[in-house]
Amino acid sequence: MTTIAVFNGPNLNMLGKRDPDYYGTETLHDVEQLCRDTAHEEGHDLVFMQTNHEGVFIDGIHEATRTADAIVINAGAWTHTSIAIHDALELFEGPVVEVHLSHIHQREDFRSHSFISMIADALICGAGAHGYRLAVLHAAHLLNGR
Ligand code: DQA
Repeated sequence: MTTIAVFNGPNLNMLGKRDPDYYGTETLHDVEQLCRDTAHEEGHDLVFMQTNHEGVFIDGIHEATRTADAIVINAGAWTHTSIAIHDALELFEGPVVEVHLSHIHQREDFRSHSFISMIADALICGAGAHGYRLAVLHAAHLLNGR
């Protein structure tokens, strides 16, 4: 069985409490369940993690180079700041799908730049929690096509 790893960065544990206009009303637990159901429908295992600590996030990506076949990543605010996460993702050989709940290109200018997009095979943003389903489906599609 192949494994899709879903990574969530800072403040995403607070989904459900964050501005619903940007992030919807679903909790991270709801998002996890959606990802899990989608991966299982497609015949893949899923691991799901969230952390507010950048080093832990990077360690998780390193571990994924050994244990996962595809990555779905919402790095939250680190998307716009972290060369270290960019460098860690470069070590991962499988498909990478970047996802954001909000439409990062319709918000403040500083959110328009992503250090992850230049590495990701695809970017899904502005589709809310449903975007995670689309991201897992696309990761599965890329895995199935190999
Ligand atoms: C986010 C967008 C980021 O700009 C923001 O810092 C987040 C969440 C999103 O999912 O829309 O924390 O990644």
